[in-house]
Amino acid sequence: MTANRNDSPETQCIHAGAGDFPAPFGLNTPIVTSSAFDYRSEPVRYPRYHNTLNHDTVAARLAALEGGQAALVTASGMGALSAIFLGLMQPGQHAILLDGLYGGTTDLVEGLLKPLGMRFSIWNGDPDHLEGLITEHTRLIHVESPTNPLLGIVDLARVAEIARRHGLISLIDNTFASPVLQRPIRFGFDLVMHSATKYLGGHSDLLSGAVIGSEALLDRIRPTAIRLGSSLNGQDLALLERSLKTLVVRVRQQSSSAGELAVRLNRHDAVSQVFYPGLGDHPGHALAQAQMDGFGGMLSFRLAPEIDPDAFLDRLDLIQPAVSLAGVESSICQPAQTSHSRIAATERERLGIDDRLMRLSVGLEAIDDLWDDLSVALHPS
Ligand SMILES: Cc1ncc(COP(=O)(O)O)c(C=O)c1O
Repeated sequence: MTANRNDSPETQCIHAGAGDFPAPFGLNTPIVTSSAFDYRSEPVRYPRYHNTLNHDTVAARLAALEGGQAALVTASGMGALSAIFLGLMQPGQHAILLDGLYGGTTDLVEGLLKPLGMRFSIWNGDPDHLEGLITEHTRLIHVESPTNPLLGIVDLARVAEIARRHGLISLIDNTFASPVLQRPIRFGFDLVMHSATKYLGGHSDLLSGAVIGSEALLDRIRPTAIRLGSSLNGQDLALLERSLKTLVVRVRQQSSSAGELAVRLNRHDAVSQVFYPGLGDHPGHALAQAQMDGFGGMLSFRLAPEIDPDAFLDRLDLIQPAVSLAGVESSICQPAQTSHSRIAATERERLGIDDRLMRLSVGLEAIDDLWDDLSVALHPS
C-alpha cells in the first residue's frame, strides 16, 4: 500500500506510512525487536535514534494524520514536550504559555526549564493580549485546546497568525482533541504534540508521546530527543500502530457519548457546573464549532455542595476512578488530586480546580449504562 494515497483520516489511520513487506509477513508491520544493527548501513539504525521500522511507520502515520511533514514518536507525552522545549530554547530565551495547561507541563516549566534559565509568561487566552507578552527574547508560544481539565478553547488561527508575524514557533498540545477532531497545522500551527498515552493509544495499556511538524523543526528537536533517551520500543510502537487503526471510530463515538452526558449532567441538580465545549453556553462553543469536527470525549463537572466527592467516587461502579484518560473504558478523576496535584494549592484555587471538580473521560460503553452509573452516584447519601 502506498502511503498517503487517500488523505481521509479513516484511511490514513489504517494505511498511512505502511510499508510493503514480503508475503510471509502478512498484512501487519513486523515488530522489530533488535537493538543492534549493522553500522555500515545508512542511516545507522538504533532504537534510541528513533529510526527503527516500527518507529518510522508510526511516525509517518501520525505526520499524515496531523498534516505535517515529519513526526517523532517518544516514550511519553512529557518526553515529547521536554525534547521540544530543550531542543528549541536556550537559557535566557522566553516562551509564552497558555494559562491553565496540563499540570505536568507546568511542573516541567517550574521544575526544570525555569531552573535552567528559560523564562515564561502566562497568557490568559485572549488573542488581544497575546502580542503584548512578546519580547525580543520570545521564541515559542505553547497552548492546549481544549485544555486539561477545564476544556478551555483557544482561537488557533489567531495564535498561529500572531506567532508567524513575529517569527515565533507555535506549539499546541492536541491530546484532548486528537487529529480526528482537530488538525492545528491546517490553522497555521508549526508543531503539534500528543500524549499518545491518551486517544492515540486509547486502551490504557501504553505510555507514549509524539511531536509532528516540518522536517526543519523536527531536525532541531530530534538530537535532543536522542540525548534525552526518550524513544519508544518496538513492541509498544506496534501496539500504538494497532491502536491508531481504530482511532477515528473510537474518538467519534466517545465524542458523541460525551456530548449526550454533558447535556444530562448539565440538567442534574447535584451538578453545579459542566465544562464541555459542545454546550451552547460554553464560552468557547462557537470557536470549537468552527475549528473542531466534534467536541471530544472529555468533560469536567463540579459537584454541588451537598455531594461529598469521596462518597460520589465510591458510589460509581462502572466508571473507574483513575489517572490518565481516553481509554475505551470510562474513567474519572479529581484533577486536584491527580494531574494538578503538583501545582501550588493557591494556583489550583485561582484556576478553579478543587476537590469537587471531576474530569470524566467517556469511553465506549453504552450511554445509558454510563448515565445509570452517574445518576446513582449523584444521589446524595
Ligand atoms: C493534555 C496532556 N498533555 C500531556 C500529558 C503528558 O503525557 P504523558 O503522561 O504521556 O507523559 C498529559 C498526561 O496526562 C495530558 O493530559
